[in-house]
Amino acid sequence: MKFRIKNTNLKKISSPCTVLGISKINKFSEKFNIFNKKTLNYINDIILKRNIIWEIGKITLLYDIPNIISNLILLVGCGKNKELNKKEFIRIISKVINFLYKNRIQNSCWFLTELPVKNLNIYWKIRIILEIIGDRLYFFNMFKTNKTNIFKIKKINFYINEKHNLKEAEISLKHSLSILKGKNIAKDLSNTPSNVCTPLYLAEKSKLLSEKYKSTITTKIFNANQIKELGMNAYFSVGKGSNNSSYMSIINYQKNLKSHEKLIVLIGKGVTFDSGGISIKPSKNMDEMKYDMSGAAAVYGAILFAAELNLPLNIMGIIAASENMPDGNSFRPGDVLKTLSGKTVEILDTDAEGRLILCDVLTYVEQFNPDIVIDIATLTGACVVALGNIASGVMSNNKNLVNDLIQSGKLTGDKIWELPLYSEYKKLLTSDIADFSNVGGRQASAISAALFLSFFTEKYKWAHLDIAGTAWTNSKKKESTGRPVSLLCQFLLNKSNFTI
Ligand code: BES
Ligand code: ZN
Ligand code: MN
Repeated sequence: MKFRIKNTNLKKISSPCTVLGISKINKFSEKFNIFNKKTLNYINDIILKRNIIWEIGKITLLYDIPNIISNLILLVGCGKNKELNKKEFIRIISKVINFLYKNRIQNSCWFLTELPVKNLNIYWKIRIILEIIGDRLYFFNMFKTNKTNIFKIKKINFYINEKHNLKEAEISLKHSLSILKGKNIAKDLSNTPSNVCTPLYLAEKSKLLSEKYKSTITTKIFNANQIKELGMNAYFSVGKGSNNSSYMSIINYQKNLKSHEKLIVLIGKGVTFDSGGISIKPSKNMDEMKYDMSGAAAVYGAILFAAELNLPLNIMGIIAASENMPDGNSFRPGDVLKTLSGKTVEILDTDAEGRLILCDVLTYVEQFNPDIVIDIATLTGACVVALGNIASGVMSNNKNLVNDLIQSGKLTGDKIWELPLYSEYKKLLTSDIADFSNVGGRQASAISAALFLSFFTEKYKWAHLDIAGTAWTNSKKKESTGRPVSLLCQFLLNKSNFTI
């Protein structure tokens, strides 16, 4: 699929399908007026005859228009106001891409990037358009035998009227395509079933990144024995019951040679299958636990994004992969584990495994003196209950960091919402025999999970994203959403001081 920004003479457009916005007051695009004149007022006549044509998202097709090479014109309604809001714009773009897809139109040129939308400049309009198109056209076909019958859109050209918008549009397209790449690879990894996507598979994929981006990325892999030898007992214990043993991949992206100390660490929970272990889960919907590595997938996507754009940052991405299975060798409820930090944990539920993996990795990264550490995890069912599939949860020990993340979420539509880490909740995690327990009971369990992690993050600014409700959909179709790759990419863009 190819996307291009164009600024050519209208006369030369020979694309099979030209997409134009039309509003009631007809003042939206100058292009529209030029177009209309060229067609000897043909388009305007039709609009006058059919007065509903401008309703938001309404699509009308015109064929064989006089004086136009393009043999199909797609008019999309843009309402009756001078300016659209963001939601309306999203609706319009979604309708157009759906239509093109359903009607198998492979090539089109769009005049929608300069529709006036409240608070959105050309950069953001293109970002939004590409995000919608990317999500609509994504398919996971790794396991479909017949791949030839899948329809693909080949080319979309975006026409820019104003010359001065051209540069911003090009930058936006570049950013958008890199985000799309990161998001799609994250979706692919998450959608891949657990018999293929094992901890080793994730480690191999991490190695691939360093082969592809030789000048900026180096990857180091730790196998289960090495994880144990490092003293990461909690992490090691989670993978003990599985034949697919644990691997931790450290993906080091280095491009800010001036300030080594400004390290951003992204840690992804990579449980390739979470059966619950000895505290086994009910079998209904257990297949969805293949997505329990979505945090790791998002970290992978974000690093790929940074490398694609050569962002001037130092980022360490950690893929903390394990499989949680019941077995004679599994860790058990009642076990007490000594974490890498030296603190002890009583296991009261082997299904609270994510925090056990993460706590050791959080301690492990202390030695690199990170400026910021963000962990991304499908951590608790409670977060799904609290926030549904609209917002991911964010919990942190630093207000500025939370605000930065929330801001990135707002900009990208990849929303997050903060839950409080009041110290009063800590008592939920008390244990009779160890420093604390790994579960905090039914109440506020997204918070107690994050508080558990907070015991290991005292040395740096830290935020935790609980993406249990947002990482995949299970309504119409079970599929990874690629969240929160967009948010993370935006956060990294902001950190590299990119503003437009
Ligand atoms: N991976 C799950 C969380 C999860 C559950 C995500 C359902 C999405 C949908 C996690 O490892 C887990 O099992 N958490 C338990 C913790 C509990 C035992 C304290 C949970 O939330 O039920
Ligand atoms: Zn889990
Ligand atoms: Mn679990």
